[in-house]
Amino acid sequence: MSIRYLLAAALFAGGCVGDLTPVDDDGDDDGTPDAGGGGGGGLARQMFERDVFPILQAKCGAGCHLTTSSSSTPFVATAVGTAYITTVGFDSVVGNFTTTGAALYSLVVPGPHQARTYTADEQMKVAAWLAQEVSERSGGGGGGDGGGGGGEETPAQATARIISEWSGCLKLEDFQQLDFGGSWANKGSNQGNCEQCHTSGAYGFKANDDNAGMYETLTTNKYYMMSYFAPDISNLADAKMVPNFPNFIRVGLRQVPHQEHPSYNTNLNDAAFQRLQQLYDRTMAYKAAGTCGPPRIP
Ligand code: HEC
Repeated sequence: MSIRYLLAAALFAGGCVGDLTPVDDDGDDDGTPDAGGGGGGGLARQMFERDVFPILQAKCGAGCHLTTSSSSTPFVATAVGTAYITTVGFDSVVGNFTTTGAALYSLVVPGPHQARTYTADEQMKVAAWLAQEVSERSGGGGGGDGGGGGGEETPAQATARIISEWSGCLKLEDFQQLDFGGSWANKGSNQGNCEQCHTSGAYGFKANDDNAGMYETLTTNKYYMMSYFAPDISNLADAKMVPNFPNFIRVGLRQVPHQEHPSYNTNLNDAAFQRLQQLYDRTMAYKAAGTCGPPRIP
């Protein structure tokens, strides 16, 4: 375990404290693709490496988010060779790559985040890269966010719509009846329960046994919602939220760039995973029955 995780346990979401070199546990941070979604091999990757990585290096890496960082999501590599895999491996940063579903984009446009601002050219480069990701990852069918003339929903619009709907469909009673917060807060890892590091939402993931608080956070902040429920736009005509098992599995199996994360049970029979599935099923049932509440995220 690297010092980062010791600090994470001690600090929660503390400030940007420094420059501690992580220990590479398995020697496998050489860019081996992780299990995450398709795409990303071609033009999108080139656009990222050429146009976007330099921006992230200057604006985010120089501050808190280098892979050597101990207290903020370490999504900016120190060199271009591992840059792509490092950034796209953080679901909490890229989400589903749309302008409405990628946290990174919201910090660039409109920004500012931590007093960083971006020129129109930089904003355009980030948007162009994300659009290319969407198009490659949807099997070429989706097109970028810019498309969709003639009244069709764009990927970004579909993402925003299903997140907004979902925020009204989730119900407090279900969080309480299922003890959703408690089952995630107390899920174990080889370095303590999730709540030890994520109780306040550090690193874009919240696991807290206060069920009402979890309901509040997940239904009013789409990025926290998306760590549990991912907007799936692979078929734009049937855009829907899905349980975000792939990301939990990727992190728990310590796939790049999470190779230093504590390991935990990623079996779908795991109690916390089951609670997520149950909350999902109940929420989908409200959607089907038309008994959702009004959206809590506009
Ligand atoms: C000792 C501290 C620690 C514990 C315990 C811990 N985590 Fe993390 N977690 C981190 C750190 C640090 C990061 C950011 C770096 C990374 O992703 O490896 C993170 C990131 C994450 C992310 C976000 C990845 C992304 O896409 O951005 C998820 C999801 C996550 N953890 C799930 C869990 C779950 C589930 C548990 C409990 C089974 C858990 N963590 C326990 C420290 C911890």
